[in-house]
Amino acid sequence: MRDDLLLRLLDVFVVLAVAVAGLWAWRRWHYRSFWLVVGYPLMAISIRTTWRKVALGCGLTTKRHRWWFTLVPNAVASTGMVKVRRRFQRIAVDTKPWMWLPRPTRYGWRVTVHLLEGQIPDDYAQTAERLAHSWRVHAVRVSSPRPGRAVLAATMRDPLVRVDKIPPSSELLKVTVGRLETGKPWEIDFRTVPHWLNAGATQSGKSNLANALIVGLAPQPVALVGFDLKGGVEFTPYAPRLSALATSRTECVGLLDDLVALMADRMGLCRQAGARNIWQLPPGVRPVPVVVLVDELAELYLMADKSEKDEIAKTSTALLRVAQLGRAFGIYLFCCGQRIGSDLGPGVTALRAQCSGRICHRVNDPETATMTLGDLDPAALVSARAIPAETPGVAIVAAQDGQWYRARSFYVSEHAAEHAARMYADLTPPWEEITSGTQGAEITEADLTELIDA
Ligand SMILES: Nc1ncnc2c1ncn2[C@@H]1O[C@H](COP(=O)(O)OP(=O)(O)OP(=O)(O)O)[C@@H](O)[C@H]1O
Ligand SMILES: [Mg+2]
Repeated sequence: MRDDLLLRLLDVFVVLAVAVAGLWAWRRWHYRSFWLVVGYPLMAISIRTTWRKVALGCGLTTKRHRWWFTLVPNAVASTGMVKVRRRFQRIAVDTKPWMWLPRPTRYGWRVTVHLLEGQIPDDYAQTAERLAHSWRVHAVRVSSPRPGRAVLAATMRDPLVRVDKIPPSSELLKVTVGRLETGKPWEIDFRTVPHWLNAGATQSGKSNLANALIVGLAPQPVALVGFDLKGGVEFTPYAPRLSALATSRTECVGLLDDLVALMADRMGLCRQAGARNIWQLPPGVRPVPVVVLVDELAELYLMADKSEKDEIAKTSTALLRVAQLGRAFGIYLFCCGQRIGSDLGPGVTALRAQCSGRICHRVNDPETATMTLGDLDPAALVSARAIPAETPGVAIVAAQDGQWYRARSFYVSEHAAEHAARMYADLTPPWEEITSGTQGAEITEADLTELIDA
């Protein structure tokens, strides 16, 4: 009899062990189907059943008066016991925001809640960290697609720990450089956002992102121009696909002058054709778009001695002019830098105002984060400063839709970028060809005011 019981217990134990091992293996080898079939339903039930407690703990409930049956003490009985009576009366109760059923997403789940009176989506954004801990998830992001609603998107684990390989780009001047935290592609589209600031401490992944751009743009009919004041160490290997490369301050001044003259020439062309920008010109006469990559922006502004003062002033003005007018004439800027502080001079602050695309990798000094993302949500700054050193390439990105995201670039080695530069070398438009006809072209102050106002 006892042997029988033992054998039966052993059977149960073996079945349980096999089931647990099976679930473990399923989760390990095909996480997505495991998540959809097992993980998500359990999670959805637990979120719905614990929502009152979580909302209460995170301060997302409000007091409302309701009619309720309550127990109230009544007369003392002869036995000395206090009698209680049920009574229907109005009392204040904690009301939780109404929550829809959570929906599974690639990396977690998403749920819509109805805001209570007096609440704003920011109240939820402020408690995002508390919510993440209560639900034991990696992060919770809050958005508000329409008034009165907040969408809470939870990610179970950091989707940016591993990202895949860079896909080929399909549209002119648009490159998918990585992946957003939401699982969507991270795209840099120069036609929507013409100028970008890419900041970050050393080894944070700035050059990797520039490499991704080179790999994405190399097969496209665009001219690439490099400014590399680190003595050319970063961009010289990509020279076969660069139409021009400046590695010293004097070369930078020359190249920037060329760019300003090029803009003036294109302005004349557009004026003749009655077009407001090069994209309104017929394809046959439309000049080639130029993407300008700048590595270590600060070097352009740092002065070793007084003799450089004039050169720096000239560089600063020319770069600002390119940023102000480049968009209309197909000249786009991508500026990388470790430090983009106001201490570098007013030129940098003015340039920053022209760059609507912002990318902030891991930073050491809070000022660079503030300069890069400062005019966004303060939560973006907190997120930027929390990027760990172990995940180079992770950045906070502000772009097209006015929102900010955590994102990670695809890993693109120097070798891969060099290979792309060599492979598409024959697509490189020679600089002389691009700038032919620009001699004597100049932008007058009147042109500048007209164009900036337009
Ligand atoms: N998205 C990424 N995925 C994996 N590794 C990356 C990624 N981005 C960068 N890295 C690695 O991090 C290291 C530093 O990257 P990178 O050279 O781009 O930094 P950086 O910001 O340009 O630094 P510096 O200011 O010194 O030039 C590189 O060795 C690269 O391999
Ligand atoms: Mg670098």
